[in-house]
Amino acid sequence: PVVAARDAYVLPGLIDPHVHFRTPGLTHKEDWGHGSRAAVAGGVTTVMDMPNTRPASFTAKALIDKAALIEGRSLVDFAFHIGVDPEHPEALADLDTGTARSAKIFMAGHHTAPAVLSDPAALDTAFAAAARSGVRVVLHAEDGGLFDLLDAWWGEPGGYRDYEARRPRTGGIAAVAKVIELVRRHGTAAHVLHLSSAEEADLVCAAQAAGLPVTFELTGHHLSFTDADTCRVGARTRLAPAIRGVRDQDRLWRAVFGEQAATLGSDHAPHTVAEKTRSVADSPPGLPGVQELATAVWTGMRRRAPEEDADAAIGRLVRLMASGPADLFGLPGKGRITPGADADLVLFAPDDTWMFSAAQVRSKCGWSAYEGWTMTGRVRRTFRRGEQVFDAATGAYGAPDGAWLR
Ligand code: DOR
Ligand code: ZN
Ligand code: ZN
Repeated sequence: PVVAARDAYVLPGLIDPHVHFRTPGLTHKEDWGHGSRAAVAGGVTTVMDMPNTRPASFTAKALIDKAALIEGRSLVDFAFHIGVDPEHPEALADLDTGTARSAKIFMAGHHTAPAVLSDPAALDTAFAAAARSGVRVVLHAEDGGLFDLLDAWWGEPGGYRDYEARRPRTGGIAAVAKVIELVRRHGTAAHVLHLSSAEEADLVCAAQAAGLPVTFELTGHHLSFTDADTCRVGARTRLAPAIRGVRDQDRLWRAVFGEQAATLGSDHAPHTVAEKTRSVADSPPGLPGVQELATAVWTGMRRRAPEEDADAAIGRLVRLMASGPADLFGLPGKGRITPGADADLVLFAPDDTWMFSAAQVRSKCGWSAYEGWTMTGRVRRTFRRGEQVFDAATGAYGAPDGAWLR
């Protein structure tokens, strides 16, 4: 369909390369129907799903089983990051990129990420094996050993702010340095997920400047919140890696405006209200975001550079959220409006201002850390492969028939 729009942009369907849609096994937190409705409401037409499900997706068979569960439930097209089994890092050498375009390594453990690959010899094996098969590794780069040491210390009375802001910072920097060393040794293509600190951004940028094949992702959460928000709202903005201070957030925004980041991701990681109303230290890290990502980033972009030409700003958003991830992960037909590409399109009104409220949340978890935010920019309609899958005016969704991009 052709949509005439004077006050809106027609953008390529956005790609969110970092979601946890919780299928299989964790569908009390999120399921594919809800997750994909949240996605299209946020202008996202392609997602890449993470492997920390129950069971975890460590094998081609597990991905085939996951695709079978999704069948008939998805409004978006999707691809998978396969999980790297800590017991068999060498298996990466035989991974077919038709099975998965990338392999996820968790270098530290969390409630929902129990399969940790932190042993130096196993990491070395994994990077060598990935270099052989040509698969890209995507990393949750934190150092679990430091976590464990500092956990007990910062968990003492003395304040949440210190606990959350300081605990994993050093672990993240150490782990990113470790990734860069492994890339240097093996030449493995590596993408560091959800960078949270200024030091990590500086490290990866320096490695890029030295010609190493290492890239990074920024999340909407780390761009939208600071530790002051976490003090105010508690566990809802708790995620791993932690939300940090204003200085870090400013550095991450510089990496947006300078396009040093290769992708933006939501790290959509819903947990139930009950789980997130425990004490901060006892609540699982993670929050929803696939629906909020594009508008939250656009809101931040316009607020930080109000004088900037809107066409220039929207071009940056499209590079970071459409063509960038399509190129990095090799998603055929996605990320650009060109002849022969899939007609994945978003009608985006850049100047609409509106309030994001709990009633608009489409994730199954039913809450958002962005409730009460005044958003700039609104997704009016979303089309996937030429079919309308979302209309903000009526709240209607299309038929679920998203396909696995292999
Ligand atoms: O905050 C997080 N939530 N970090 C992770 O690494 C896992 C994720 C989740 O799955 O909940
Ligand atoms: Zn992670
Ligand atoms: Zn994640």
